[in-house]
Amino acid sequence: MNNKSNEIWKNEDKYDNWELRKHRFVDEMRPVLFQYMGITPDSYVLDCGCGTGVLARYIARGLGSGRVLGFDISRYLVDYGNARIADENLSDVCKLVVADGFELPFDDNTFDAVTNYTYMGVLSDPVAGLKEMIRVCKKGGTVSSITPVRGVEWKGEYPLDFAERLHELYDRQEEIYRKYFFIPKKCISKAMNGIP
Ligand SMILES: C[S@@+](CC[C@H](N)C(=O)[O-])C[C@H]1O[C@@H](n2cnc3c(N)ncnc32)[C@H](O)[C@@H]1O
Repeated sequence: MNNKSNEIWKNEDKYDNWELRKHRFVDEMRPVLFQYMGITPDSYVLDCGCGTGVLARYIARGLGSGRVLGFDISRYLVDYGNARIADENLSDVCKLVVADGFELPFDDNTFDAVTNYTYMGVLSDPVAGLKEMIRVCKKGGTVSSITPVRGVEWKGEYPLDFAERLHELYDRQEEIYRKYFFIPKKCISKAMNGIP
């Protein structure tokens, strides 16, 4: 197995940049995302490559008796994220731990839903990472992945009926980034492909 990407990520400590991503997850999207991710209010959820846990906290705010656990290989991002979880009074519902996605320290068939936001695309061996995600998901549970469409290099037509609307929304998001975060237009594509 090729786990070369671990060397890049285990010392990642730019938690301020990753934290900006919380603006991408709005409350109105939660019902649709929960449906896609197979999450119900009582689910036990795993957020893979959680960074500072922006997705894990977003999920936590929509759970009832359920729980969400996030893991990341960078202890800096995990420590920062757990501090934010405490600030936001989510510690009973949400926790982040340091773990390697190529060798997860969880039993088979543990989680109802296993998801991630822009994690699989950074792995040097995404198939090995996906196999671990499937192993720890309960039989009949849901393994899902979320990635921004425009940041992904796609040869040919987008295979989505709603691609035009998606691009319109993406342009509006860029406007908002420019207005509030003062990122020059020429830097935005680069920023959206990497950090944040
Ligand atoms: C593009 S970032 C996304 C972070 C977070 N999901 C977010 O959207 O803010 C990818 C994350 O995957 C983590 N990562 C990379 N390889 C990993 C591995 N083998 N095991 C666990 N986490 C890993 C990185 O440390 C990084 O936080």
